[in-house]
Amino acid sequence: MLPPQSILPARCAQNPNTFGRTPTRAGIDLRTGRFREALEHFERARMLDPQNAECHFGAAVAHRDLGANEAARECCETALALDPGLHPAHGFLASLNFPGPLYLKIIAMLHSHLRPRTYLEIGVETGQSIALARRETRAIGIDPEPKITERLAPSTSIHATTSDEYFAAHDVRAEFGGLPIDLAFIDGMHRFEFALRDFMNIEKHSTPRSTILIHDCYPLSRHTAERERRTTFWSGDIWRLILILRKYRPDLSVKVIGTAPTGLGVVRDLDPGSTSSSRTTMRSSGSFWRSTIRCSTPTSRECWPSIPTTGRR
Ligand SMILES: C[S@@+](CC[C@H](N)C(=O)[O-])C[C@H]1O[C@@H](n2cnc3c(N)ncnc32)[C@H](O)[C@@H]1O
Repeated sequence: MLPPQSILPARCAQNPNTFGRTPTRAGIDLRTGRFREALEHFERARMLDPQNAECHFGAAVAHRDLGANEAARECCETALALDPGLHPAHGFLASLNFPGPLYLKIIAMLHSHLRPRTYLEIGVETGQSIALARRETRAIGIDPEPKITERLAPSTSIHATTSDEYFAAHDVRAEFGGLPIDLAFIDGMHRFEFALRDFMNIEKHSTPRSTILIHDCYPLSRHTAERERRTTFWSGDIWRLILILRKYRPDLSVKVIGTAPTGLGVVRDLDPGSTSSSRTTMRSSGSFWRSTIRCSTPTSRECWPSIPTTGRR
């Protein structure tokens, strides 16, 4: 019988695509489209070395390539249970959850459909998402450490500061020439209380016809949905914001689009005048949740009933 190393050497699973470049029997089989043979090798490797997360992940990739998504999910979850930091396995699991278009494609569609006059984005990083704003849209991006590599429209400006500092020091409406925020995307600090403050600050400058998008609303796994970042792939506990909005703001329309990697919240029917009870309740709900956080990061399966999405297969 072959030793597991000749089937799948350590670290060959850094990226699902690298299987195809690995000079192992399983890797060669995957590269050449011999998925069934690849699966046999990975299955044998799993038996020989059951603690090796990469063997399970290899089997997951082969199963997916054979169209067996549930078996792929099971192998991938086993791999992640053995090695929660196995980076490519997170993206792989996300693509199994949401096989449709990525969140960026959805945001691009929303720009062309809604044609917003103004767009505010919190957390721009390299500019991939803010670059989707139309040339005619006045766009403002906020990020304490922007690393823009994308070409941005001339009507886009970037503020290198945190969102809290930005809202404390700037009048957004004045910066938009007196216009409200038509479309916003919250993708900054991945802890729910930051996103909650961002939401409240944006709502103040919106209209009932505005739309607020919230990234990372759908927890992929316990490890990636915790408050503390322990994995490269990290969506934090933004999912709590969706639960808060649904509980304390029944007046809002709160939906989550099932898009990879971790869902996109879409909030409408905003109430810029809701300075009184609902805003105060949300603020105190934030403190309440912060004080009761100790335990309850769900796995995505546990959370699915509370965060139903459209588009999940
Ligand atoms: C996931 S990245 C944003 C990715 C980008 N929206 C995209 O889709 O391509 C998160 C960004 O949030 C920024 N960030 C972290 N804390 C923030 C804060 N308090 N206010 C605004 N941005 C913040 C980080 O610097 C980082 O660039």
